[in-house]
Amino acid sequence: MQLTKEGYRLSENINPISLCQKYGTPIYVYDAHLFERQYLRMKNAFDVPNLKLNYAVKALSNINVLKFFRQLGAGLDCVSIQEIEIGLLAGFPPNNIIFTPSSVSLQEMRLAQAKGVRINIDSIPMLELFGSEFPDMPIGLRFNPHVFAGGNRKISVGHINSKFGISVHQLPHVLRIVNRLNLNIEGVHIHTGSDILDTDVFLAATEILFNTAKEFDNLDYIDFGSGFKVAYKEGDIETDIELLGQKFSKRFNQFCKEYGKELTLMFEPGKYLVSQAGTFLVQTNIVKQTTAAVFAGVNSGLNHLIRPMFYDAYHHIVNISNPYGKKRIYSIVGYICETDTFGVDRQISEIKEGDYLAILNAGAYGFMMASNYNSRLRPAEILVYKGNDYLIRKAENLDDLLRNQEIIDIF
Ligand code: LLP
Repeated sequence: MQLTKEGYRLSENINPISLCQKYGTPIYVYDAHLFERQYLRMKNAFDVPNLKLNYAVKALSNINVLKFFRQLGAGLDCVSIQEIEIGLLAGFPPNNIIFTPSSVSLQEMRLAQAKGVRINIDSIPMLELFGSEFPDMPIGLRFNPHVFAGGNRKISVGHINSKFGISVHQLPHVLRIVNRLNLNIEGVHIHTGSDILDTDVFLAATEILFNTAKEFDNLDYIDFGSGFKVAYKEGDIETDIELLGQKFSKRFNQFCKEYGKELTLMFEPGKYLVSQAGTFLVQTNIVKQTTAAVFAGVNSGLNHLIRPMFYDAYHHIVNISNPYGKKRIYSIVGYICETDTFGVDRQISEIKEGDYLAILNAGAYGFMMASNYNSRLRPAEILVYKGNDYLIRKAENLDDLLRNQEIIDIF
């Protein structure tokens, strides 16, 4: 969203206030031009013969968003059988979907196998079980490089205490299983975390994966996961994708030469592709002065956007009803009956009851982590593209809340 002379605007000059009035609030609005811009930026940053960007569905799985990425040429990174099913419904061919689950059952792996998607194995026991049952199926292996990286502890997943992946130190055991069962390892993978500040961390983890990759002689791809950082705060550092792309491509091409084959370079970005495109629009219910602060209470809460409360994540908040008003200091809070603070002591243009506020950078892990806590309804999702706006998910109603409840007749 941009601040123009007329106020805040989405792409093609769409006024977010008109969307609030048309659809009601709260709403998640996704600006598909930004999906496209981010996808193309990443695609163009790497100079390698074969690049595949598998969009991480977990960031935002609305089927229309998946269809949008399909027509851009992306593949999908899925972590559950349900994400696979939505991806197939969105028209992705199975071999454009990679399944990288964690601690799932063999039964779920079989279901994924039957759908024909690519399988990425996360543990030695699963390698043995799955490999024994499907010895002819090419598979990938997710390694844990033991690198600590990520915006906060909860989203750092490549370190030694993390549950994810097969330790790189267990490579000898992996090779014994692979050789004994005569398995075809088509890919190796790492994902160290989300929101990684330092591009050198990517490159350090890369070397570890190259060392591991050398041990497999029939690879088709190397998948470096994701973790590209976006700027949540004004002036925040984001991953310099062009610089990373330059350094990375050089090293990757050199590795392929040594390996003797043009491998496919894969990534699976979520945040980088969809975070900035999403804006969460809410309305102010009450402006309340207490002894310590001025609170602006809005018609939403941790039930709709939990990142600020769960990760202490910063999301920039602006008053789109009063874009050029005098700045005052507010804490923006939700309507849930426990502490649910979107932002503390923010300088925001003066807020009156009824004003619409925009919470920025809410495309990734926003709606996806929403819940029905306090028996509140989950909001609508709107997609804007080429000057039009589309309802891509209706807001829930009471029937949705009750749908799966069985009313038993004993009291
Ligand atoms: N690949 C794998 C194997 C992953 O586990 C993840 C994210 C991604 C790719 C995508 O990472 P991204 O590009 O979005 O950083 N809910 C947290 C983020 C959790 C990420 C989980 N895995 C948040 O809101 O910050």
